[in-house]
Amino acid sequence: MAIDYSERIPNNVNLAGDKTLQRALEHWQPHFLDWWREMGPHDFASADVYLRTAIGVDAQGWAHYGATRMPDYRWGIFLADAIPNRSIGFGDFYGQPVWQQVPGEFRSQFRRLIVTQGDTEPASVEQQHLLGHTCPSLYDLRNLFQVNVEEGRHLWAMVYLLHAYFGRDGREEAEELLARHSGDVDKPRILGTFNEPIEDWLSFYCFTYFTDRDGKFQLKSLAESSFDALSRTCRFMLTEEAHHMFVGETGIGRVIRRTLEVMKELGTDNPEAIRRHGAVDLPLLQRYLNFWFSSSLDLFGSEISSNAANSFANGIKGRPDESQYQDHLALEGTYALAVPEGDHVKEEKVAMRSAMNEVTRAAYVRDCEIGLKRWNIQMKRSGHDIQLTLPSTRFRRSIGAWANVPTALDGRIVSREEYDRGLPGWIPSASDRAFVKSLMQKVTAPGKMASWVAPPERGINNLPVDYEYVHLS
Ligand SMILES: [Fe+2]
Ligand SMILES: [Fe+2]
Repeated sequence: MAIDYSERIPNNVNLAGDKTLQRALEHWQPHFLDWWREMGPHDFASADVYLRTAIGVDAQGWAHYGATRMPDYRWGIFLADAIPNRSIGFGDFYGQPVWQQVPGEFRSQFRRLIVTQGDTEPASVEQQHLLGHTCPSLYDLRNLFQVNVEEGRHLWAMVYLLHAYFGRDGREEAEELLARHSGDVDKPRILGTFNEPIEDWLSFYCFTYFTDRDGKFQLKSLAESSFDALSRTCRFMLTEEAHHMFVGETGIGRVIRRTLEVMKELGTDNPEAIRRHGAVDLPLLQRYLNFWFSSSLDLFGSEISSNAANSFANGIKGRPDESQYQDHLALEGTYALAVPEGDHVKEEKVAMRSAMNEVTRAAYVRDCEIGLKRWNIQMKRSGHDIQLTLPSTRFRRSIGAWANVPTALDGRIVSREEYDRGLPGWIPSASDRAFVKSLMQKVTAPGKMASWVAPPERGINNLPVDYEYVHLS
């Protein structure tokens, strides 16, 4: 179904055919716009931004590019096409037809999942509220705003489900999604990482690399859901999400490239010398990676989880790329976990269904490693032995079996004292953050880049890098 842009809310769900639902969403729309004006990108409302907007849901040619003022962006409701005769792909109802409505007995579970996913979308926009003021280039500024408007659209995606399938409860939850705010003392966002401030662009690149990638894996799991509307919504969100992770991967790659250039120019890898030259030393980058990776790991939940087992059993939330598995019931077999026991590590075998969070987290970690491999090749090619690494998944965890267990970066259990002594060197220190902040100077001449980041290899949508991606009035 094509997207109808003549409607107040663009959509491909035939909203005009359900007047009650349409009215309810049109009532929520001004609340969303108020939220956007207050909590979305600070200033820049009158800037023309070269944005893509969805015009269809086909993988090919789904987006239109053009200069848009952000408050005029057409946030809408887009579901991927239904797969004819789709059947449930996992769990106890395996093989049965998928659900067009939410079964009453799973209603609260679905609602909680949709609210939790929905909460992350506006949260990230709030976290990035001030970043525009310190953009390293117009190209980056445009990418930030592209990510922001699409996270806003992802909120719409979840709010549609809440309104369309959860009645009054759903409408109340939709209001609450605009009432909680990232980092708010009284009404914070639901998940920890989404309350971490993102005050500099190095954090933004790490966030889009690590935390948007968590989003990818959550969406992949929800795309497997037996509730077909949720599955279709998430499938289309994944199409948009790819660009967010691209911003992170290429962003970090460009920081590294610039640092390597400076190292070559100066003939040293001395962090102080590199910093004096206005670039990011690689040990500092490593600490940023350690911070955002460990924070994002908690988003997958506990290693052993009866909740995850239930969700799987009931066909609510599957494994990412479920079709890669032979056994879609997962009633047999175990998953071996390494868990702490005092100052030792022991292996624990848990029923496969109870280990679903860990299965998803492991797939996520493998995906994270791909970028690191690329960056390490980049460094090797320029003649450096330095390797960036991911810390152990046990490091600095707040949720699950390793929560509050003091470990070194390599996952070795250490004493509390050793941990406290080591931590300032493992994650960004106050002086690291102050230095990075000092680099954050706004650069807005087309094609120009800040001192600490190399230009991208190519522009957006085949345009040159020096295109005026944001026209500041
Ligand atoms: Fe999103
Ligand atoms: Fe995203």
